[in-house]
Amino acid sequence: GMIFTVAIDGPAAAGKGTIGRALAERFGFAHLDTGLLYRAVGVKGGDPVAAAEALSEADLMRADLRSLEAGEAASRVAVIPGVRAALLAFQRSFARREGGAVLDGRDIGTVICPAAEVKLFVTASPEVRAQRRWLELGGEAAAQSYEAVLEGVKARDARDMGRADAPLKPAADAVLIDTSAMSAEAALDAAGTQVRAAL
Ligand code: C5P
Repeated sequence: GMIFTVAIDGPAAAGKGTIGRALAERFGFAHLDTGLLYRAVGVKGGDPVAAAEALSEADLMRADLRSLEAGEAASRVAVIPGVRAALLAFQRSFARREGGAVLDGRDIGTVICPAAEVKLFVTASPEVRAQRRWLELGGEAAAQSYEAVLEGVKARDARDMGRADAPLKPAADAVLIDTSAMSAEAALDAAGTQVRAAL
């Protein structure tokens, strides 16, 4: 069978999830949004290390994991080395499962899967990412202003890039895809080209 890992890293709201899901579908690979693991730990409450060690499928099915608050809570527990260590083995074995896997997150190419066959770093300017997130939240109808969403994006970037353990950064051999001025289709084409070249 085929063991093949696509590692996708990048900051919040850069389009990693969309690209990851679409690549998985196009090539028939399994997909893991690793942010969900940190979100589930963040919203569970109690001791975060114990929550990470006991994480279950049911924790990952909670409906509130996509909220801004869950993202904030995730980035706070993600700085704790014991939390990251507890989530490592699950991610690694997912990456090497039969039939190929796409994982998206912050440290997939650098820490979780340094030998991934394809490494992508998907990014966009903070303003473009905040605009996309704000539109997803409903634009003018959203509970938060664009400025508040932009502040949130910048605060999350600073925490993710500034932490000591597994900070957000491109792997030395990652292919950079800046989606600031790209359509979703163009970004997906660029990612698909990298996968096809490595298969
Ligand atoms: O990607 P998402 O916005 O769902 O991630 C939520 C938070 O979880 C990130 O801001 C980051 O702090 C943390 N995270 C991480 N490592 C990953 C995935 C997510 O530290 N591989």
